[in-house]
Amino acid sequence: MLSGKVALITGAGLGIGRATALAMARSGASVVVNDIDGAAAQAVVTAIRDEGGQATAVAAAIGQDGSAEACVAAAVDTFGRLDSLFACAGVLRDSVLWKTEDDAFDLVVGTHLRGSFQCGRAAARQFRAQGGGGSLILTASPAGQQGNFGQGAYAAAKAGIVGMMRSWALELARDGVGVNAIVPTALTRMTATIPALAPHVAALERGEPLPRALREKGIGPPQDVAPLVVFLASDAARGITGQALGIGGDRLSLWTHPAEQDIRLAPDGWTAASIAASLDQRPMAWQPVGVPLDFD
Ligand SMILES: NC(=O)c1ccc[n+]([C@@H]2O[C@H](COP(=O)([O-])OP(=O)(O)OC[C@H]3O[C@@H](n4cnc5c(N)ncnc54)[C@H](O)[C@@H]3O)[C@@H](O)[C@H]2O)c1
Repeated sequence: MLSGKVALITGAGLGIGRATALAMARSGASVVVNDIDGAAAQAVVTAIRDEGGQATAVAAAIGQDGSAEACVAAAVDTFGRLDSLFACAGVLRDSVLWKTEDDAFDLVVGTHLRGSFQCGRAAARQFRAQGGGGSLILTASPAGQQGNFGQGAYAAAKAGIVGMMRSWALELARDGVGVNAIVPTALTRMTATIPALAPHVAALERGEPLPRALREKGIGPPQDVAPLVVFLASDAARGITGQALGIGGDRLSLWTHPAEQDIRLAPDGWTAASIAASLDQRPMAWQPVGVPLDFD
């Protein structure tokens, strides 16, 4: 599905990025494998080459100035062009609001939000210079869509990524560049830190099959996420843009975009007292918050 195409994947040394790098190479793409961990990136390149594929590694910390440009330059210098970016690099520093240090906030927002911005910008510049379109695939999270206890910084970054994605979809439409976000769920080193998922990560590592019910809730190995990225990077996805798509286990879904509901009008505007009276008369259906964590 991707033969002749060149893909850049950030954070591809492990987890979802690694599984996607292997899947994209098997689909015929030449792959730039970025990770902050250079040895992990090189190991993925070796695995791709051992299967007869083409890949090159870039050890760089996404979110730090110059790293995005270095990754795009590697694609152009090694393979002559760039057709898709999968911005997947990520870290967690979970803590409740009152215990969150500035450094932790900056690392999480810097890696996910600033990193996606810089990589998206470098890729968009290359797509526009080349002509012929391209595909930007960003990585969001259920936490950014719904909020999650202990993940304020992460949720802010991931919600921000979806906001950027929608804006970039408008800005890049004329250039034929599709801009979408995936909302993945997978058992990886990252999710091993979530108490409700830790036993399932351990079971997967022991080679045990996952219960069907769990897979239907979107929980599976990172390999289950890769096909959506391959699809979005392919010509089959042309015309799909501005969307947040969920993927994981046996589940593929479309996330709704936020929209106003229960719209009420007050001629000449509202007062605090008239808001209270309106809600007293007819309560609003307050929206739920929080990622459902009922995996058992
Ligand atoms: N696993 C899930 O269920 C899940 C759910 C929602 C979103 N995500 C997102 O998917 C992406 C991948 O997550 P994962 O579960 O595969 O995690 P992971 O920890 O298994 O892999 C993340 C990779 O990113 C690399 N990395 C970290 N900081 C980096 C940086 N600054 N520059 C380059 N590489 C860096 C790590 O070295 C690692 O190889 C992340 O953006 C994560 O937020 C994952």
